[in-house]
Amino acid sequence: MSQVRDILVTSALPYANGPIHIGHLVEYIQTDIWARFQRMRGHNCWYVCADDAHGTPIMLRARQEGIAPEALIARMSQEHQADFAAFRIGFDNYHSTHSPENQELSNLIYQRNLETGHIVQRIITQAYDPVERMFLPDRFIKGNCPRCGAPDQYGDNCEVCGASYSPAELKNPRSAISGAIPEQRESEHYFFKLADFESMLREWTRSGTLQKEVANKLDEWFAEGLQEWDISRDAPYFGFEIPGHPGKYFYVWLDAPIGYLASFKNLCNKTPGLNFERFWAADSQAELYHFIGKDIIYFHALFFPAMLHGAGFRKPTAIFAHGFLTVDGQKMSKSRGTFIKARTYLNHLDPEYLRYYFAAKLGPGVDDIDLNLDDFVARVNSDLIGKLVNIASRTAGFITKGFDGWLAGQLPHPELYQAFVAAGESIAAAYEQREFSRAIREIMNLADRANQYIAEQAPWMIAKQSGREQELQAVCTQGLNLFRVLIGYLRPVLPGTAEAAESFLRIPPLSWASIGRPLLAHQIAPFKPLLTRIDPNQVQAMLAEAKQDLQTKETPEGPASPSANLHLERDPIAPPIDYETFARIDLRVARIQQARLVEGADKLLELKLDLGGELRTVFAGIRAAYNPQDLEGRLTVMVANLAPRKMRFGVSEGMVLAAGPGGKELFILSPDAGAEPGMRVK
Ligand code: MSP
Ligand code: ZN
Repeated sequence: MSQVRDILVTSALPYANGPIHIGHLVEYIQTDIWARFQRMRGHNCWYVCADDAHGTPIMLRARQEGIAPEALIARMSQEHQADFAAFRIGFDNYHSTHSPENQELSNLIYQRNLETGHIVQRIITQAYDPVERMFLPDRFIKGNCPRCGAPDQYGDNCEVCGASYSPAELKNPRSAISGAIPEQRESEHYFFKLADFESMLREWTRSGTLQKEVANKLDEWFAEGLQEWDISRDAPYFGFEIPGHPGKYFYVWLDAPIGYLASFKNLCNKTPGLNFERFWAADSQAELYHFIGKDIIYFHALFFPAMLHGAGFRKPTAIFAHGFLTVDGQKMSKSRGTFIKARTYLNHLDPEYLRYYFAAKLGPGVDDIDLNLDDFVARVNSDLIGKLVNIASRTAGFITKGFDGWLAGQLPHPELYQAFVAAGESIAAAYEQREFSRAIREIMNLADRANQYIAEQAPWMIAKQSGREQELQAVCTQGLNLFRVLIGYLRPVLPGTAEAAESFLRIPPLSWASIGRPLLAHQIAPFKPLLTRIDPNQVQAMLAEAKQDLQTKETPEGPASPSANLHLERDPIAPPIDYETFARIDLRVARIQQARLVEGADKLLELKLDLGGELRTVFAGIRAAYNPQDLEGRLTVMVANLAPRKMRFGVSEGMVLAAGPGGKELFILSPDAGAEPGMRVK
C-alpha cells in the first residue's frame, strides 16, 4: 500500500451557548466518517475539536442565567461532549477556545502579525448602549427596516423584505439588550490588513485547496476587494484581553480558528511522540483539513490562512465546506418541530441510523442535504435491516446450530469474495473524495449481490437434506464472509454496528487490509440482531418532543441571534425604562368582535377588535391556546399604537396582550367587569 500519511482534521467549533442539533451533526458525522476511513486505511489521522466559548452572546446568556461565563461554558462543554460521544463522533481531543493554549497561541499569532505591520489601529464610531454601558454588535440593535418599515428588525438585515443595511440606517433603533436608544460613541479598534495577503490568498485558493463552488465565491470576494478586518472588541466582553491594551479584547472570530491549533497542542501535551511543530510549522509535510459549513467560508478561506501565514505557520491543505440540513425540504423550524436537538433524537432513535442516512446523502459539494423523514425510515429499514443485517441473520444460525459456531476452512465461491474485495478500491476512492453517497450506493449493490447469492443457494433448503452438511457450512461461511466485507466497508459510517459485528464474528477491528483475507476455520459467537427496524412511531414521538422543546427556549441555529440568546427558563425582569418611554405605549380595552382561523397559518388567529367605534384587524399567535368561537364577545387589552405590520396574510394593526411561555400555554389579558371598549389602560 501507499505510504502512511499524517493527517489532522477538524470540524468547526460549536458555539458554547446552545445545544448540538441535527444540523450540526451533518458536519461532525461527515468529518468522523472521513477520519475513521483514513485510520482504516492505515494512516495516522488525528481529529480535534473544541467548544467556541467566547463572544457577546455567551457573555449575555451567562449574565441572564446569573452565572459566570466560565460556569456556562463548562456545562455546555459537558453537554456537547456527551452528545458527540453518543453519536460516536470519535474526537482524539475536545478542548475549549477559553484555554491557556489558545490564549498563548492567539497572543503569538497576533504579536507576529503586529510586528510585521499587518495590524493597525483606528478610531471607529459605533452604537453604544448607555444603560448596559457596552458597545452593541450589529445583531444587538433592532429597529424598523429602512426599506419596508417592518418593526423589530436586526441591525444588519430585514427578515421581512430581505434588505441588508448598516445599523446606522435602521429607523427607530433600540438596543436589543436594554431597549435603550443607542448612542454613537468612538472607540479605538485594531484591524487586520487582509489585503496585504491578497496575492498569497489568490494563489493559495487556486492550488486545489477549495471546492470549485467555493473558489468561485472567493473570486467574487477578491473582485469586491479585501477589507480590513476588525479584530478587537471593547469591554465588557468574554474573551482574551489583547496584550498591552487593557479593556480591549480579541474578537471571538480571531481566536476561534486558532482553537484548532490549541486543541491539537493540548493533545500533543498529553500524547508522547506527537509533535505540534511537525503539523503546524510553515514547511510541515502533514496534511491539514478543515470541515466547515458553507456559512463560515470567509473566515476559513481568507482570514484564517492569512493570519497563519502572517505568523509563520503553515496553511490548510484544503477546506471542505458542506451545505445546510433541511428537514422535509424546509429549513429546520422550531414551530414545525423539526428543530431537533441531538439529545431529542437520541431519546428516540439509534444514532447509527442518522449516520447512515447522512452518509447516503452526502456528496463532496456544498449542496444542502435534506432529511426526509419518510425516506429516512424507509431507507434505513430497507438497506440496513432488509439488506445488510439480513445476510448474517439468514446464515449465522446454521453455523451456530450445526457446527458449534465453526466456519468452514474454505470458501465455495472464492471468485465472488474476490469481486467484493476488488470493489473496495472504488469504495475507498469514493470515501477519500467525500463522495459518501457513491460509497454507500456501491456497498449496497454488493449487499444485493450477497442476498442474491444466499437466495440462490438457499441454505434453508440444504439444511433439510441429510448428507449436505459440508455444503451448508460452506455456503453460510461464504455468506458470513461477504457480510464481513460489507461491515468493513461500512465501518466508518456505522462504528457501533461494526463493533457489534466484530464481537459476533470474534475478530479484531476490521481494517481495509484485513478485509482482503477471508475468515476461515474460525469459531464465531451466536448471532444477535445487530440493528432493529425503525418504527415510524419513534419518529413521530421524536417530533412531538422537539415541538415541546419550543416551550423551553434555546438558542436557535445560525448566526448568534441576540433575542434568542436572551431567553431564559423564566423570563427575567427587563432593565428599567423611563416613564416617557412607557407612556408612549397606548394600551386600550378592546372587544373581540370576530375571531377566525387563518388559512395556511397554523399558529395564528385573525381577530377583529372593536376599539369603541374603530375596528382593527390583528393577527395573534394564539391559535394553539384558544378556539376562535370562545373568544368572540370577550374583552381584552391591546397595544393600539403599534405601527401596522404587513404579514403574509394581511396587515396586522396592533397586538393583543397575553401572558405565558407560548403554544397552548398562553392567556390573553382581560379587564375587570365595567371596562368598555376604547378605554385607555394606564
Ligand atoms: N463557532 C462557529 C465556528 C467556529 S470554527 C473556528 C460556528 N458555530 S456553530 O455552532 O454555529 O456551527 C458549527 C458548525 O455547524 C458550522 O460549520 C456550521 O456551518 C454547522 N451547522 C450549523 N447548523 C447547520 C445546519 N443546519 N446544517 C448543516 N450544518 C450546520 O459557526
Ligand atoms: Zn424590510
